[in-house]
Amino acid sequence: MAMPPGIDAARVPRHVGCVMDGNGRWASRRGLPRTEGHAAGEAAIFDTVEGALELGVRHLTLYAFSTENWRRPADEVRYLMGFNEGILVRRRDELHDRGVRVRFSGRRDWRVPRRLIRRMDETLELTKRNKVMDLVIAFNYGGRAEIVDAVRRLVQDGVSAAKVDERAIRTRLYNPDIPDPDLVVRTSGESRVSNFLLWEIAYSELIFTDTLWPDFRRDNLFDAVREYQARERRFGEVKR
Ligand code: IPE
Ligand code: IPE
Ligand code: MG
Repeated sequence: MAMPPGIDAARVPRHVGCVMDGNGRWASRRGLPRTEGHAAGEAAIFDTVEGALELGVRHLTLYAFSTENWRRPADEVRYLMGFNEGILVRRRDELHDRGVRVRFSGRRDWRVPRRLIRRMDETLELTKRNKVMDLVIAFNYGGRAEIVDAVRRLVQDGVSAAKVDERAIRTRLYNPDIPDPDLVVRTSGESRVSNFLLWEIAYSELIFTDTLWPDFRRDNLFDAVREYQARERRFGEVKR
């Protein structure tokens, strides 16, 4: 498949993260309840997945529910649990056909409904041998919680202080085999990270766009990748 114009196939980000934000505002602007914005976000998710497949992105992480999102009204939280379960049921066969391996990142605590956990496990199992792209759904995910969980494992593993290094932490994160994101896109005009992949974004390129998530489509992803490719990543070095 031909690359979209202006994108260099050799420098496509291996891992892209998206903070899918702005669903509530999208709905409010239309006089709709916030939940309608989440529903409208489904089209954005799957067009973005298609775009990432077109580009040959190897890992796509979507921030679906943060450890702080439990603070929202109970109705909205309940809606989001059902919505995420519904997406898995409605879309997993299609993702499987496209060779996508669905994975999850986040805490599976008592607040996550059993039924949703079951759908997550079924989806993991269905898609586990797929190799085209990892779709990582960050659900009940918090970057600080992830680091706390890694430190807990370090202690459980009896690692001595002298043996604690970046590798020791890194290998205990939720998905240690996935490389750090090269590019993180946040929609809706907010310029903040909101606890997304704190450890992993140390050297990620961050792009903030005003587009609200339900309006986001693969062309917006392509624009972000063009901007990414125009940047110089230095990793603290001096490039000559
Ligand atoms: C992002 O949209 C979806 C989730 C956080 C689950 P929001 O619901 O945060 O939408 P805004 O930011 O209120 O517009
Ligand atoms: C970040 O968006 C979380 C997700 C996209 C799942 P929020 O809307 O929760 O972030 P804040 O509250 O604006 O920082
Ligand atoms: Mg928001």
